[in-house]
Amino acid sequence: MGEEQGMRLKNRIRIAFTLVVLVPLVLTGLIFVLFLQHAEPMYPVAMLRSDIWFTVIVVFVGILILTSVIAAVWIYHQIASPLAELKWAARNIRDGNLDFTIDAMSNIREVNELSEDFEEMRLRLKESAEEKLEGDKESKELISNISHDLRTPITAIKGYALGLIDGVASTPEKRDHYIHTIYNKANDMDKLIDELTIYSRLDTNRIPYTFAQLNVSDYFGDCIEDLRVDLQAQDIGLVYQNDVADDVLMIADAEQLKRAVNNVISNAVKYMDKPAAVIQVRLKDVGDFIQVEIEDNGKGIAQRDLARIFDRFYRTDASRNSRVGGSGIGLSIVRKIIEDHEGKVWATSREGAGTTIYFVLRKYIPSEEVFAPEDV
Ligand SMILES: Nc1ncnc2c1ncn2[C@@H]1O[C@H](COP(=O)(O)OP(=O)(O)O)[C@@H](O)[C@H]1O
Ligand SMILES: [Mg+2]
Repeated sequence: MGEEQGMRLKNRIRIAFTLVVLVPLVLTGLIFVLFLQHAEPMYPVAMLRSDIWFTVIVVFVGILILTSVIAAVWIYHQIASPLAELKWAARNIRDGNLDFTIDAMSNIREVNELSEDFEEMRLRLKESAEEKLEGDKESKELISNISHDLRTPITAIKGYALGLIDGVASTPEKRDHYIHTIYNKANDMDKLIDELTIYSRLDTNRIPYTFAQLNVSDYFGDCIEDLRVDLQAQDIGLVYQNDVADDVLMIADAEQLKRAVNNVISNAVKYMDKPAAVIQVRLKDVGDFIQVEIEDNGKGIAQRDLARIFDRFYRTDASRNSRVGGSGIGLSIVRKIIEDHEGKVWATSREGAGTTIYFVLRKYIPSEEVFAPEDV
């Protein structure tokens, strides 16, 4: 829509005002001249004089009224009909109906601009209404997901507790097993609630990152040492390969980055289906970035699911139907953390063979060191 569309109201009023003043004058003059030409020659001049002035005034006032009315209607029409449309639009918006378009085309620029602003407001409102709807849908999904995921361990806990109460667990071994199961299920719930809390905090930016300058090799070296102990206990091999120079730095939040790595590793453990389980962690230098690759030889992910595993609550049908629990939040936390580090995360996988999760983090290159003259 052109900025210059329509005439300015001020100009229109100027024209109207000129019309109101000029037209009566010109017309009256014209009529006067005509009247004089056709007037009877013997008409007494004195009579003519008084009569003519009266007629002139009457005609003038008549024409004045007429032109004013025409000018007023002219302006009114250009304002009134778009205003009526805007009024209708405002009513629609008030009633929550945003599916209409405003095309109150007028020849007055101000009115056009108002219509355009109105239309823009409608579009913005519509957008935010849609966003809200989407958000509502997501939180409903969230609630239904959470209830489902909490119910599973609770059902188990209730079942085993009842077994203990009823004396179904008759031997000390059985009782022990029941109690352990209850403990493990309660643990599952704890983890799920933790994940949810972290996710919602990350999502609403309630976890302030504490970024620091970290040495890449040292940081991941420490990470791997922590993991090695855990994995050894679960009989899972860990291969670590670091191709990044010793002095490469990055800016990262140590705690959150660790959380991301742990989430990826815990998936590798959880979706492992081979007796000879191996997880490989590789660190590569790819120019401005360092690339971290975490590869497992677990059950893999179908190609069609690969793009969605980083979406929150997304779990493949295969894992949904399996025994292993989960919320589908783990990888969305990973993506959020990596993206907050201005990095990227993606995955490749072969069903039955294993999965590799990749992420890149930008290297930190300290600005030119100040040249310090050596001691002489
Ligand atoms: N290493 C892996 N091997 C096989 N499948 C995986 C792996 N990592 C993730 N997935 C799939 O991606 C889904 C999403 O992972 P995640 O967000 O961590 O949720 P969760 O582990 O709670 O199910 C998992 O449910 C699983 O189907
Ligand atoms: Mg997970």
